[in-house]
Amino acid sequence: MTAVALRGQLLSLRTDPFLQPSAECLAHETDGAVLLREGLIEAAGSWDAVRPVLPPGTPVVDYGDALIVPGFVDAHVHYPQLSVIGAFGEELLPWLERYVFPAEARFADPAHAERVAALFLRELLRAGTTTAAVYCTVHPESVDAFFRQSERFDTRMVAGKVLMDRNAPPELRDDVRRGHDDSQALIGRWHGRGRQCYAVTPRFAPSCSPEQLEMAGALLRQHDGLFLQTHLSENRAEVDWVRDLFPDARDYLDVYDRAGLVGPRSVFGHAIHLGERELCRCHEAHAAFAHCPTSNLFLGSGAFDLFRAAADRRRPVRVGLGTDVGAGTSLFQLRTLGEAYKVAHLHNRRLDAVQSLWLATAGGARALHLDHRVGRIEAGLEADLCVLDPRATPLLAFRAAQAETVSDLLFALTTLADERCVRATWVAGRPVYDRDRTVEPFRE
Ligand code: GUN
Ligand code: ZN
Repeated sequence: MTAVALRGQLLSLRTDPFLQPSAECLAHETDGAVLLREGLIEAAGSWDAVRPVLPPGTPVVDYGDALIVPGFVDAHVHYPQLSVIGAFGEELLPWLERYVFPAEARFADPAHAERVAALFLRELLRAGTTTAAVYCTVHPESVDAFFRQSERFDTRMVAGKVLMDRNAPPELRDDVRRGHDDSQALIGRWHGRGRQCYAVTPRFAPSCSPEQLEMAGALLRQHDGLFLQTHLSENRAEVDWVRDLFPDARDYLDVYDRAGLVGPRSVFGHAIHLGERELCRCHEAHAAFAHCPTSNLFLGSGAFDLFRAAADRRRPVRVGLGTDVGAGTSLFQLRTLGEAYKVAHLHNRRLDAVQSLWLATAGGARALHLDHRVGRIEAGLEADLCVLDPRATPLLAFRAAQAETVSDLLFALTTLADERCVRATWVAGRPVYDRDRTVEPFRE
């Protein structure tokens, strides 16, 4: 693989702006360059510093003053739910019954799974997202389809087969043995193959028997480096239901904890209605939350208190940003951040542009314990980048001209931007999406 350099404005986070002043966390080069080689970032900095180290003949893709940021990280998304985005009228539990379960049942057909997985990957890359924690369906074929598509672009993805053995239609239920054997086989096929990572994925406590949750814990103990993803305290009716189903548990998190599911690389979607004990426990266990603001607003689930979770120095919890499509309404992380800003208002907090960029990049990578691989523009990390055009539309160009600082510009983008702003996406040092031309995957 030959080297290539990208030139533009570089924006990346050094450290956590929920724990340090934002201005100290942002690394910004107005005329910057990144040298990509063998799938990695080999050098990054000012154009003047990088130009002398370019190997002779290195092609330079000049993006002018477009913003080169780390590829976005989506900490929670359901690829089989593309067809139910924007389904009218229900809160979480009836929404699952009425829309989600029928949509997921169609993934018994492997050809359907392949089609939707291919569409999903393209749409993610079109939104500048290069790493995601992805729920498939109960069908193992849905996981094979997803990882096959991810491999075509060499994206670093975390995904798994949904486990659910109760409170779901019969055609969507597995059982403890089948769930175990299917997950085990998928782990053998995909976990650690290239950039693919497996997540044990019990849907949520109401759809898993205590025995199935125990089995999920046993799987985690049997294999190194697995992820765990599930839903936690999203909706009041769900929380009440979990209390009835697991009367002996101290709280919702404890249901998972007793099965051995709370640890590093555990990612809990939503985590809205939590007590202090649950926050302390997640801090201590190095577990993470996925904040999913468009989903929470769409389903009326509640307002996640981001600063309570992430900014308490005594027990900060790792937080990433999830689109949670199909309850979420966009795959685009800047759009998701626009809603995160409004949700923070409901707790009388102000989410600034630097904190926003952290959530969508380095913070998401840290939530997933992948920060040694992705999430920042730094030598040695994997070469996943998104190029944002701040003047993609006449309105954006007009607004961008008023921006006095890069933070102001970035903040305006989180309010106004849509996918037209994504000028290009690079994965493992290769272009995988370009707004102005068709890019083929490097592998068929
Ligand atoms: N809780 C259990 N399953 C789901 C799901 O598919 N989406 C959301 N938003 N919450 C869930
Ligand atoms: Zn979800």
